[in-house]
Amino acid sequence: MFETLAKLTAKPALFASFDTGALWTDPHVSEMMLTCHLDETSALASRPAGQIDAMVHWLDRHLGLAGKSLTDLGCGPGLYAARFHKAGARVTGIDQSERSIAYAKAQGLPNTDFRVGDYNMGAVPPADIVTLIYGDVCAMPRDRRASLFQRIHSALPAGGVFVLDAFAASCFDAFTEAVVVAADLDGGFWAPPPYFGLKATFLYPDATTVLDRYLIVEKERSRWVHNWMQYMTPGQLSSELMAAGFEVGGALDVLTGDTWRDDQDMFCLLATKI
Ligand SMILES: C[S@@+](CC[C@H](N)C(=O)[O-])C[C@H]1O[C@@H](n2cnc3c(N)ncnc32)[C@H](O)[C@@H]1O
Repeated sequence: MFETLAKLTAKPALFASFDTGALWTDPHVSEMMLTCHLDETSALASRPAGQIDAMVHWLDRHLGLAGKSLTDLGCGPGLYAARFHKAGARVTGIDQSERSIAYAKAQGLPNTDFRVGDYNMGAVPPADIVTLIYGDVCAMPRDRRASLFQRIHSALPAGGVFVLDAFAASCFDAFTEAVVVAADLDGGFWAPPPYFGLKATFLYPDATTVLDRYLIVEKERSRWVHNWMQYMTPGQLSSELMAAGFEVGGALDVLTGDTWRDDQDMFCLLATKI
């Protein structure tokens, strides 16, 4: 017990124990995540439906989706992919959650290809447009981002566009370090009740990064989950994209495609392969 609590509360190095699988592929958690994705009032895993409609609408206006090929990385159950398809794009969706991909496939959309896969590994399927939506870029360390940006660059033709959104650096100020212990932490999200959830939140101000480290203790098993989130400025992210060979426009409002205001929590970038 002493060692466990010592481990829970010892601040790890930035992005140590990085593993998105524990969060997205555990059978119970992935079922809860899918429920959140499909709950139009929840913004936990995806934007509410009206906001997805709005984002796809302005992306279509900017990029002209009809007839284009599009690879949606971290597509989840295909909420954006279905709309990209409706706008006339040929969509490939990649996600590491088998459950989300099964849901996307079950929609039976023609000209779409949904695959279980890890976008941190291997080649990105070639396409005119690549998307990475709802802050996924903030959940990985800088070296993973650099590798992913290079592989996306290779997947695009000259003039092809990479669309991504991110949580703004100003959001970081809302977090504080804390330790929480609760029966059935987060209302049964982490495991079938009964279980205990221990959560330690660590702040990394120099990197505007937050770690939520969880220990989920069930009768028969216990497991660690690390949820990292780096809050970024448009300038920071743009310079990483430029280093990978992209030309990057100004930050945009995710819902309208208008110029982003620095009091908004998320921004979108369109990065063009040159
Ligand atoms: C925040 S959700 C966003 C889903 C979708 N883009 C949306 O906005 O509706 C992140 C998604 O990325 C997936 N994901 C996270 N890391 C991944 C990885 N390394 N490879 C493939 N999928 C990943 C998760 O399974 C999850 O479906």
